[in-house]
Amino acid sequence: MKLIIEPARSALEGRCRVPGDKSISHRLAILGGMAGGQSVISGYLDSADTRATLAAMAALGAEVSESDGEIRILGGRLRAPAGPLDLGNSGTGVRLLAGALAGHPDLRAAEIQLVGDDSLSRRPMGRIVEPLRAMGARIADHAGCLPLTLRPGPLNGIRFRPRMASAQVKSAVLLAGLHAQGETVVVEPGPSRDHTERLLPAFGVEIRRSGAEIHLHGGQVLRAGQFHVPGDLSSAAFALAAGLLVPGSRVVLDQVGLNPTRDGVLRILDGMGAQVEVRPGAAIGSEPVGSLTAKHSTLRGLEIPPEWVPLAIDEFPIIMALAAAADGTTVISGAEELRVKESDRLAVMCRELVRLGVRVEETADGAVVHGGPVHGGTVDSHGDHRIAMSLAVLALVAEGEVAIDNAEWIQTSYPTFVDDLCALGALMRWEEE
Ligand code: S3P
Repeated sequence: MKLIIEPARSALEGRCRVPGDKSISHRLAILGGMAGGQSVISGYLDSADTRATLAAMAALGAEVSESDGEIRILGGRLRAPAGPLDLGNSGTGVRLLAGALAGHPDLRAAEIQLVGDDSLSRRPMGRIVEPLRAMGARIADHAGCLPLTLRPGPLNGIRFRPRMASAQVKSAVLLAGLHAQGETVVVEPGPSRDHTERLLPAFGVEIRRSGAEIHLHGGQVLRAGQFHVPGDLSSAAFALAAGLLVPGSRVVLDQVGLNPTRDGVLRILDGMGAQVEVRPGAAIGSEPVGSLTAKHSTLRGLEIPPEWVPLAIDEFPIIMALAAAADGTTVISGAEELRVKESDRLAVMCRELVRLGVRVEETADGAVVHGGPVHGGTVDSHGDHRIAMSLAVLALVAEGEVAIDNAEWIQTSYPTFVDDLCALGALMRWEEE
């Protein structure tokens, strides 16, 4: 589907409740499926990615039902699925599930295939396969990629330091550690989102952090619980950016997760001169939450400190879009991980920004974006939800209409994006391609 965006004719005004956090939703589906008893989850993200993880847990024997906006998962006893588990586009789903299943005691006689769509099938899996094998997991890959074939068996705890700051790698090893003999220690090379560590205690699991080390003993029993998912800061970033870009705008986003391991985007926006007011509210479970108000701002370019990159890893497409409309030059470095996301986000954003007249240079580990006028035209999502939404937001301040091909990928993480932006006053419409 093609998404057509007209340049904004008036200010964006209003409040918006962004959908539930994607990272937390995936984790709740997996942990809820493993935990004994019925977990009840409100605010679970209804998107293609998070539905795929729930469906995988259902195929593994968890009883999943939905009513009154709540997901109920009766977990605790898993069985071999009837066929391959298809995680679609979801890196988090496939990597965390591989860890969770690698040593699962209920699945010891099973052979389980994990598969995904074309994009996911190109993404690197060696980063989880290697540590899982070091724990004793029997796991076959296909030249470092999907499909993965698991034959769950006994695991040993390990001490492991990932090469990159990655919450997916850390979480895969910790989830495998739940079924390992002895202690598993992950030594983080730098901070990455810590939702797994925050959620495990709510399922009755003891986990301890000491500096950069996370310690977990195997053989612990998970207990079901009641959970609420806060709004996703990574989704909020789009409406926030729209409010910053369109003259006269004021946009308020309620109940957004403000986990400090995710707040790189707020630091970067602050450095660019954005007027974003952060109002902390009551925590949801172990996650800090608050409201964000964005007012139209004159943004300036910024040399982004590389140590902020893992804290804003999913926000670089929208940061690059904002940089294109800012005064001056924005320099991104230390961001080579962006090349192995749902698309090569450095290459794709640079290519698509050029099509809208932006001056941008791609580098090995980042990009240099020169702010200036943005013209209308046709661009492509390259099958990446965040690329589509970032270009759609930038299009609000383009000189002419912008058409985004393959924009239906937005449903991967934020199916109500177009409705939410239109409710704030944006002019966007779908057309058949
Ligand atoms: C995620 C971790 C990040 C992020 C992804 C979600 C998670 O990936 O890009 O969208 O939920 O753990 P990496 O851990 O590979 O950086």
